[in-house]
Amino acid sequence: MAEYLWPSMTGLATDPVRDSRMKIAQEVSKEKLRGCYYTGDAIVDACYDILATTIDRRDRLAFLEPSAGDGAFVGGLGRAAKRGLFKNARMTCVEVDEAEAAKCRERLDANKIDGSVSATSFFEWFNGNTGKFDALVGNPPYVRYQFVPEADRFLAETALASFGFELNGVSNFWIPFVLLSFECLRPGGAFAFVLPSELLATSSGCEAHLLQTLKNFQSISILAVRFPVFCKTW
Ligand SMILES: C[S@@+](CC[C@H](N)C(=O)[O-])C[C@H]1O[C@@H](n2cnc3c(N)ncnc32)[C@H](O)[C@@H]1O
Repeated sequence: MAEYLWPSMTGLATDPVRDSRMKIAQEVSKEKLRGCYYTGDAIVDACYDILATTIDRRDRLAFLEPSAGDGAFVGGLGRAAKRGLFKNARMTCVEVDEAEAAKCRERLDANKIDGSVSATSFFEWFNGNTGKFDALVGNPPYVRYQFVPEADRFLAETALASFGFELNGVSNFWIPFVLLSFECLRPGGAFAFVLPSELLATSSGCEAHLLQTLKNFQSISILAVRFPVFCKTW
């Protein structure tokens, strides 16, 4: 991956999982354990607008949404097409929760977007995927790493090890998500992710991997937002 230069964009938000007191898994809702914080339309639209200024092609793009929820970024792609952006795009979505994946599928249909939704863990999907994508969009799950199901931790760590990344000291699930998503991007592709601002403030080994990886991109735009970016949280 190191030899590729990708134009790119990333949106940053404050960390939604920070809490004054550490909770144990039993005190946290199942949605929070899946890292469910759905992105509001204004942020989604801003992501597509900035993506449009950085990517080298505009039409017939293959998009990947690795943790699609109920399809906020699917709806956004539909609105982008109405603004003349990303026409005839195809979108591959992954969402671990069956019910949310079904809502996401309905949004693909409602927006007449060619695509698919796999109701499975991104890490399982990643193991079976051989395709490369023009663009990545989304908002990865924010889950304290010790709350992540063991099967996912194993898959994430094994996959990342095969690319030379070690997850020692990783604090949150969004980091392996983003690192492996980048491996699905073709050279010349771009991404627009909603990411927590802790990315710029912490220096654990894993975040250092991520910062190092970001240096492979030709340009990075950061849209720092102070207002709430999430339209639905649990
Ligand atoms: C922060 S929400 C974002 C949803 C959507 N991308 C948005 O922006 O509104 C993260 C989503 O990741 C899903 N998720 C959690 N673990 C996952 C996994 N291992 N694979 C795929 N999706 C996962 C959650 O169910 C949740 O819908």
